[in-house]
Amino acid sequence: MNMQLTDKVILVTGANRGIGRALVEEALKRGAKKIYAGTRTSLTHPDPRVVPLMLDVTDAAQVEKAVGAVGHLDILINNAGIALYDDLGDREMIERHLAVNFFGPYSLIKAFLPSLTESRGAIVNVLSVTALASLPLIASYSISKAAAFSLTQAFRAYLAGRGVNVHAVLTGPTDTDMTKGFEIPKSSPQLVAGGIFDGVERGEEDIFPDPMSASMAESWRSGAVKAMERQNAAFVA
Ligand SMILES: NC(=O)c1ccc[n+]([C@@H]2O[C@H](COP(=O)([O-])OP(=O)(O)OC[C@H]3O[C@@H](n4cnc5c(N)ncnc54)[C@H](OP(=O)(O)O)[C@@H]3O)[C@@H](O)[C@H]2O)c1
Repeated sequence: MNMQLTDKVILVTGANRGIGRALVEEALKRGAKKIYAGTRTSLTHPDPRVVPLMLDVTDAAQVEKAVGAVGHLDILINNAGIALYDDLGDREMIERHLAVNFFGPYSLIKAFLPSLTESRGAIVNVLSVTALASLPLIASYSISKAAAFSLTQAFRAYLAGRGVNVHAVLTGPTDTDMTKGFEIPKSSPQLVAGGIFDGVERGEEDIFPDPMSASMAESWRSGAVKAMERQNAAFVA
């Protein structure tokens, strides 16, 4: 299902910098009615359509409070994330990544599901190409994104009958604090934010928002794994 951003109410987590901040600006340009900017520190924005929201995605009390503050919601964007170098030597590193990158989106989806069902809205999970192929330099991060991709596919199947679109964003390297010091070609966060909303507006299940990730889009969409996702989803249709 296609969805235009005009007049929509959107919540972006991790909205103070990087891709999250670019998503807020892009949503404003596309005519969103209100954008809740979830952050862990206080935020001000010159546009009155941007409403700051204190939201650490690992804090259950803050998530609950956010649900009360937001009310009506059309699009939930799970963007907040962490990426730390590791080599799987420390179990705690895996748990830290899962807490933010997997259980964060899980908690927010559960919490906002009544609003999103009511609005027949959309969930956008900002994942990574490392969900498809591990980058062993950031192995725990890759694990958390692969798990969040599986979560996305399962919610997509469960919610299809309730009119809620569930998008996976398979982002390639982007020039933010997260990739500082990693000398590889990167896309700008502005380009990625535009690619994400283009995908949402076109109703794409899996969004490849930048040139690097887009090079995989066609083979992914016509491939055996995507076909199996559809077959598996039919069991809960
Ligand atoms: N950059 C890339 O190359 C790339 C590639 C693929 C996917 N992604 C994904 O894109 C998303 C955004 O990444 P980015 O590149 O913009 O990273 P970034 O510049 O490091 O920003 C990360 C954002 O997440 C927030 N955050 C971290 N932990 C949080 C928590 N517990 N609760 C709420 N917010 C939290 C940060 O808030 P604070 O400022 O408070 O720390 C910050 O706003 C992430 O999910 C990332 O995995 C990025």
